[in-house]
Amino acid sequence: MKKVNLVFGTVYGGAQYVAETLQGALIELGRDVNLYQPEQLMGFVPPVNELLLVVCSTTGQGDLPDDIQPWFNEMKSKAPYLPDLRFGLIALGDSSYETYCGAGEQFLSLFEELGAKRLGEFLKIDAGETMEPEVEALAWLPHWNKLIDTELAA
Ligand SMILES: Cc1cc2nc3c(=O)[nH]c(=O)nc-3n(C[C@H](O)[C@H](O)[C@H](O)COP(=O)(O)O)c2cc1C
Repeated sequence: MKKVNLVFGTVYGGAQYVAETLQGALIELGRDVNLYQPEQLMGFVPPVNELLLVVCSTTGQGDLPDDIQPWFNEMKSKAPYLPDLRFGLIALGDSSYETYCGAGEQFLSLFEELGAKRLGEFLKIDAGETMEPEVEALAWLPHWNKLIDTELAA
């Protein structure tokens, strides 16, 4: 059973709530989950034999929330080569901004630069469309969870 390392970046708590909801749902699905608080992330390099799930909102003009920016910078400067890492990505944003889900896009570019492979669809959740981002995340999760098993079997 592959362990899921769940990380989030948030300004107002929405992405944290989504991450906590997904943690509960993954545990119910029988997964082992480690939910990291942003301040625990420094020095954390996602193990390539485990899954990484990033839930991140966008602030400013396509910017990362302050809580997760230091880890993003660290990963970018350390640039560990992670070709065996599989990651899922959920971005919270608002499509009224030109830089819709810009922080999620930054994470996508970063992990692709590190050689990691995205598992499943890059989920973007639009605050202009829903007040309950966790509902969309929960709808996305079962397929992502199935893909983990497909990867394990491969
Ligand atoms: C000051 C401010 C700037 C924002 N900038 C962006 C942006 O550039 N792109 C985007 O997609 N959403 C942007 N948003 C929308 C937030 O990402 C969205 O409301 C999200 O659900 C907030 O999640 P959080 O509660 O985890 O911080 C912005 C919101 C605020 C208040």
